[in-house]
Amino acid sequence: MLMAGVVYTGGAYAADAASAVPATVESAAPEIKTVLSDADGNALLKKNNCVACHAMDKKLVGPGFKDVAAKYRGQPDAEATLIAKVTKGGKGVWSSMSMPPQPAKPEDVDAMVKFILSRQ
Ligand code: HEC
Repeated sequence: MLMAGVVYTGGAYAADAASAVPATVESAAPEIKTVLSDADGNALLKKNNCVACHAMDKKLVGPGFKDVAAKYRGQPDAEATLIAKVTKGGKGVWSSMSMPPQPAKPEDVDAMVKFILSRQ
């Protein structure tokens, strides 16, 4: 499997295991440990044009982000799965509509996925 030098450890949720993370991982990916505030998270989704197809509370072209959070709640690999999906695009999870690959910066994708997964 091609790791591209980036290993996602689960971010904030893996804080307890931080001492077990090799130093190379820390230097390869300066991870955003905290979830953005509502205002910052929503601003980032808007800036990256996610809101053209997504809303928080309802389905537009893509699923509502609260539904996404509910679907993946408690799944340890959710963050890595969704980061890959947003970056590469894809279809078939919610419907046959596909999400095009999103050109957002990797650190923005990371922050947005953490924010989406934190929605209740
Ligand atoms: C052109 C429309 C479009 C845009 C723009 C878009 N999405 Fe999506 N998104 C979709 C569709 C359609 C799906 C459902 C894909 C599927 O069923 O697998 C989706 C699914 C998702 C999912 C759930 C993926 C899964 O496999 O469960 C996440 C998370 C997501 N989008 C985040 C984002 C973020 C973050 C952005 C902005 C950087 C974004 N989307 C921009 C259309 C879009």
